[in-house]
Amino acid sequence: MSAGEGIASARLGNWIEGFEGDAAERGQTRAQWELLRIHWAGKKQGVVRGLLEEIKRIEPEQRRAYGEDVNRFKEHVERRLSAIDAALAAREREAARRAAAVDVTLPGRRPALGSLHPVTLVIAEMEQIFAEMGYSVAEGPEVEDDYHNFEALNFPADHPARDTQDTFFLEDGLLLRTHTSPVQIRTMLARRPPIRVICPGRVFRNDNDLRHSPMFHQVEGLAVAEGITVGHLKGTILAFMRRLFSPETDIRMRPSFFPFTEPSAEVDVTCQNCRGQGCEVCSGTGWMEILGCGMVDPRVLAGCGIDPDVYSGFAFGMGVDRVAMNRYGIPNIRLLFDNDERLLRQVRG
Ligand code: PHE
Repeated sequence: MSAGEGIASARLGNWIEGFEGDAAERGQTRAQWELLRIHWAGKKQGVVRGLLEEIKRIEPEQRRAYGEDVNRFKEHVERRLSAIDAALAAREREAARRAAAVDVTLPGRRPALGSLHPVTLVIAEMEQIFAEMGYSVAEGPEVEDDYHNFEALNFPADHPARDTQDTFFLEDGLLLRTHTSPVQIRTMLARRPPIRVICPGRVFRNDNDLRHSPMFHQVEGLAVAEGITVGHLKGTILAFMRRLFSPETDIRMRPSFFPFTEPSAEVDVTCQNCRGQGCEVCSGTGWMEILGCGMVDPRVLAGCGIDPDVYSGFAFGMGVDRVAMNRYGIPNIRLLFDNDERLLRQVRG
């Protein structure tokens, strides 16, 4: 090795060392690599560029050796920059792959399963009990006419009982049914006795507070045959309430008035909250008011073409929402219809 080459190699060694020191620090991220590249290999101000320009100031006899060193240094810098670039690219691909990969150790997301609404559950339960007693289910329209909702049920046009119904009137003499009793009429007009039906459905009244919603649910019952008495009515309701609530449940009947039944009664059942002891739910009485009923008025039977001298019948109608609230401990009727999934999840049957 000549002295000249030795000097040249030492010089090259220093350049490489300087570059490598910088590359070790700045070769870690893409942004730093970019600065490294500009500093060393930049076309205008890069270190290599500067060294190439230096050549003019080198003694002519040194130029060849110097030029070779600069070229070797240039190659070194380019090779190392592209090696670091490749390593960074591999790391970037790996990071992207990981970000996109499925982590099979994570707990899965459960699909939200639908569930039946508390009111639907209670109606299904009521239908089941009556089905076992030989009743079938009848349905009718929610938009009714005056005839089926009032007239045929013995509410004459100027009868004060109409005021108690808080009716939503629509156009053309139509209205939102205020009770499920029009389904009694539709059934009796369509079928001959013996009749045993229950009619569950939505009803509407212009009433809105903690205990009343303008839309609520009733289940109506109707039995018409020869020889039906108040005893059948009472026995049916008692048997039903004991199945719905508990075998110890009792009922009491209080005289009442409905235009379409005579006699009429309201039925209370043992308060399910206190088992009849008296509590805030039943205002200390031990009873919950739950149902209206009576013997179908002969005028109503006759109006539907059923001979009241041959046939008699009973009818009853009850609110479903109160039963659902009672059963699932829901304090405010509006909670039933807000469609808050948290409530539906709690009462999942
Ligand atoms: N339709 C009455 C109401 O909504 C309830 C009822 C039905 C009463 C059947 C007697 C017989 O209040």
